[in-house]
Formats: sequence, structure tokens, C-alpha cells
Amino acid sequence: MHIPFLSHIFVRRAFLAVLAVAILAPSATALAQEPLRTLLVGVDRREVNSLNGDWHYLVDQPPFSSLYDSSGKVRNGGYGQNTHPNIDSGPHNAEYDFATAPTLKVPGDWNTQDPTLFRFEGVVWYQRDFNFQPQPNKRTFLHVGAANYRSYVWVNGQHICDHEGGFTPFDCEVTAAVKPGSNFVVVAVDSTRHVDDIPTVNYDWFDYGGLTRDVSLVTVPSAFIDDYDVHLRHGTTFNAADAAILSGYIHVEGATAGTPVTLRIREAGVDTHLQTDAAGRASFEVKAAKLDLWSPENPRLYKVELAAGDDRITDEIGFRDVRVEGTRILLNGKPIFLQGANAHAEAPIRTGRVCTDQDVKNLFGYLKDLHANFVRLAHYPHDERMERMADRQGILIWSEIPNWQRISFDKPEVFAKDEALLREMIRRDRNKASVILWSVSNETPDNPVRTEFLTRLANEARQLDPTRLITSALNSARPKDGAMVLDDKLADALDMVGINEYIGWYVGKPEDADNTRWVLPEKPIIFSEFGAEAKYGNHGGDHARWTEEQQANVLAHQFAMLRKIPQLRGVTPWVLMDFRSPSRNIPKLQDGFNRKGLLSEKGEKKLAFSVVQKAYEDHSIGKPE
Ligand code: GCU
Repeated sequence: MHIPFLSHIFVRRAFLAVLAVAILAPSATALAQEPLRTLLVGVDRREVNSLNGDWHYLVDQPPFSSLYDSSGKVRNGGYGQNTHPNIDSGPHNAEYDFATAPTLKVPGDWNTQDPTLFRFEGVVWYQRDFNFQPQPNKRTFLHVGAANYRSYVWVNGQHICDHEGGFTPFDCEVTAAVKPGSNFVVVAVDSTRHVDDIPTVNYDWFDYGGLTRDVSLVTVPSAFIDDYDVHLRHGTTFNAADAAILSGYIHVEGATAGTPVTLRIREAGVDTHLQTDAAGRASFEVKAAKLDLWSPENPRLYKVELAAGDDRITDEIGFRDVRVEGTRILLNGKPIFLQGANAHAEAPIRTGRVCTDQDVKNLFGYLKDLHANFVRLAHYPHDERMERMADRQGILIWSEIPNWQRISFDKPEVFAKDEALLREMIRRDRNKASVILWSVSNETPDNPVRTEFLTRLANEARQLDPTRLITSALNSARPKDGAMVLDDKLADALDMVGINEYIGWYVGKPEDADNTRWVLPEKPIIFSEFGAEAKYGNHGGDHARWTEEQQANVLAHQFAMLRKIPQLRGVTPWVLMDFRSPSRNIPKLQDGFNRKGLLSEKGEKKLAFSVVQKAYEDHSIGKPE
């Protein structure tokens, strides 16, 4: 734990340093243990002190950084001290002041809130005060739903924790830093891209920076449930008749062996009393009296009550079985065809990072209108509200970590970062029935270094969660002997293979799709990206590029081709809605948006929407078997 210097700009006088230590002494009720940087599962099902709302902000504007010293290391003090400058009297003590700074809404990216920050990429400092009453023998965590891309957290001047990754949650223990009454929290968020980051420096979406998801304080007993997994037992075969066995675990952080744990699902006739082992884990396998399985047609969720000592969590969980059999995808033993769309976390109408119930309602409204039963959440884990809505509405999800195209596959430290992101994605959503696919990448180069890296990652995902399917979107099919042939070794590590292709837009003419034959692995195949760009309201012939008619025509020819693929088990055209991408720079047509959406970013339906909607309503594209 740092003992922070008050500021880095000026040499500090000894008495200020002494004063600082006195102010920052940990609260008397702090429990003596190492602070935890962890990930609490089910935070959105706990009573929390929300820190959403107005946060003061200051921009760390080059050529001087208050976050990094000249060697690029995080300074001990910086704005984390939240020093108030002596404006009226000397000595001069600080070159910043949060108290009189403007505010940003949290959650939310800074780019769409402050026009001067629209294209800003770098560090923005956030600060807010909060009142708090520590309770004896309780532990308190600062929960951040996501912050893009690197985050550094101070509470009452103490540097608490850091996190890397723009799309997964993290929790930092602040028990020893908070005090009765008024407190303050400072978070520096750095959206700068780096070659060895995930994603790397180039990608086709907007680098929205900031505290882009909910922030809260979570107070728990000294022994608390930090992780759990309650799922339908996933045996080697599935039999709907006996699908009533639930298995999984409840992990209690800080628990001694033998701590009592209960699992109650009253409507399923489950009331199980367990005990933690020496590692704080209570594993179980229990037969439910009756269990109505979750499916798109019947998105049945159960109230699942977990208790361990003084800790309680009540979650809503659906139980279902998904597996592959030959080239079929079976949901609860029945073959299913996945028809949906790709979606970026772009907020309809207002644009910016999705972070509110309304944003999620708008996106799911489009999916339902499309007669979709599936959505690929491209290319990173989305706000947890998406999975909660999908659980309730019966929409199946492909969830993906942002290994987009050319990340640094040759670096072990990048693999370690990827493992962390994979674990965070799986840990947050493993109890969401809607999630059936974990994807380890999108459009990566077919070479041995990448294949070894992603094969390891795919195997790790399968080990972390044997109840779901592992996939990836590949664009490595190549023309051979008059067909498009996929012989990418990565496919061997996948349960289901995604194919990205753009016949009619990036490659050839729409009609070329009619005669394109595919040679694909004998596995379930999803065509995970295909489509064309059109500016909403731009009309012309069905070969006039950028018109709605042309985009609809490309999709019609794509569907004609896809219908001929025997192992096709899903389609997700690219993309549900136009989304911001700075690389899309054709004035009047793109204006900084990727225009392959079936809808404009304002929610206006293009002609292509009705082409897809009709095909899905008629179930005319693919067969479940
Ligand atoms: C790629 C990529 C997408 C991108 C799309 C496009 O397939 O996966 O992220 O937006 O092509 O070029 O529109």
C-alpha cells in the first residue's frame, strides 16, 4: 500500500507530509487483512452504495502528466491526493482543484459528454466525495463495472488498486481506507491504446474512454460470497427427462472450513445445506423436485437464494443445457438454429457506450423486432444489463474477449492479460443462461504462433466452463479448387466455428455469392459476419453502392448462398446498428460511422432490416439439423 506524497509538482515540506499521514490513517474498524483486488459475482444483485452520478473531472493533458512520471510509472501522489489549492494565501500548494472542476456523468464515456473530449484519448481524472459509515467487522469494496482502458484508484489519498481492460468489472477493497463521514475517491482512467493491449492499437470501433459502467461501494461481512456457479449438471449426454440435477459451487472469501452455506431455490424444491472446505468452497450436486428449463421460447428464471454466515445474495438464474452433437447445436436436447445479428455496445439514438437500462431496452427492441433469437456481442464483454435482459427475453448470446485481428500473440505477458480478461468475462456471466458461447477471438491471422496462443486460450475457457461452447470468428477461408476452403487449425480447438466474409462488399459482386461453394469443418458453423454499407435514406438501384437497395441486395444473395451450407447452424449479419468508428471517413456517407447496420444509429430501419426480418420470421435461412 502506498504512503502517498501529496503532490508531484512541487517539493513537499515535511509538516505537510506528517499532516497527510495523520489524515489518512486507516479507520479503527478496519479488519487486519491484505486488501483484495478481486471480482465479486452478483454485485448487481446486492444492496450497494451507488457512486453513479456527477463526478468532477480534470484532463491530464500532454505535455505534462499528473499520472505518470517521466519514466511512465504511476506517480505516488498526483491528483489522487485531491489537494485543494490555497487560492487566497500562500504557500502555493497545488496546480489543480477538483472541487471547482466541471462534472461528467458516471457511468458514461467522456467522448460524448464533453465536446472538447470527443476525440480525446489519454487520461481523465475523476473525483467525487461520498459519505460513509464503516460497520464493525465488515469489508468494503469499490466496484467498477468497467473503465476503458486502464484505471488507477485512490481513496482518501491512498492508492488502492489498478486494473487493465476496458470491458470487464473489477473490485478493490477499501476497508482500510474509508473512514466515518466524508470520504473521497479519485480514479484516473487512461484510454490510450498500446500495441500489447487487448485490443491492440488498431480496431474498427470508437475508443470511448472513461468510467463507462456503474461504480458502487459494496459492503459485505468479513466472510462473504465472492463467487458462485449454479448450473444444470452437464454430463456427457443430456436427457430432458432427468434434467433436474443442479451442480456447481459457492465460494466464501474469508471463511474457515466448515462454514455453513445454504442454497435455496424454493420454486424448484431445492433447499440444500452445505459447508465450505478448507479453500472456502462449497461444491454441490442436488436434484430439484421440478425444473422448468430455460429457452428462447420459455426464458424461465428462478430465484436462487445463497447464504453463507451473515452474507446473502438472491440471484435470478435460468437452467438449460447447450451442447454440440455432430454438426448440430442442441439446446435442452433439441437442435436449434441461431438467427440474430452482431451488436456493438453503441447506444442507440444518443450514441456513446451503452450503459443504461434504456440503451439496452432499445437494442433488444430491435432484436425482437427482427425475430432474432441470438446476438453476437461484438467484440468485447458488454454491460451486464445486456445479459440480464437476454436472460429475461430469451435471446441467446455469443460473448467475446477483444482479441481483434492482430494482437501480440508472440508475448507471454499478453497471454497472461488475455487469461485475466477471459476469467473476468466468464466469472461475471457464468450464471447467465442466455450466454451459450465464449469466443476467444475475431479475425486473427492464421499462423502457428496465433494458433498456439488461441488454442491454449480456448482450452482454458473450456476448462473454466465445461458447460458452454467455445468459438471464434475466423476470416481465414481461402479460395481453393473452385471453392472457399477453411482449413485453419484453430477450428480444431473450437466446438463451433464462426465464419466472417464480405462477398458483395469487400469481395466481388453480390451475385458472386450465388456460385460460391464452401468447404468447412464438420462442426456447427455460424456465418458470424457478412453485409454491406448503406447510408440510411440513400436510395438507388440494387447495384448502386451505399444505397439501401444495394445493401438489401447483398444480403439477399448472401442468404441464397448460406441456405446451401448443410452444417450452417447460425447467422449474424454485420451489424445490427451503425456504430462509430474513426476509420470510417467518407464524408456524407460514413462521417465516422461504420454503416453496415440494418438500422442507422438513430434507430431508422434500412431496407436490409426487412430482408433479414422476413427471412427470420419465415425461418428460411438455415435448419437446426
Ligand atoms: C470485420 C471486423 C469488424 C468490422 C467489419 C467491417 O469483419 O470483424 O469488426 O467492423 O469487418 O469491416 O465492417
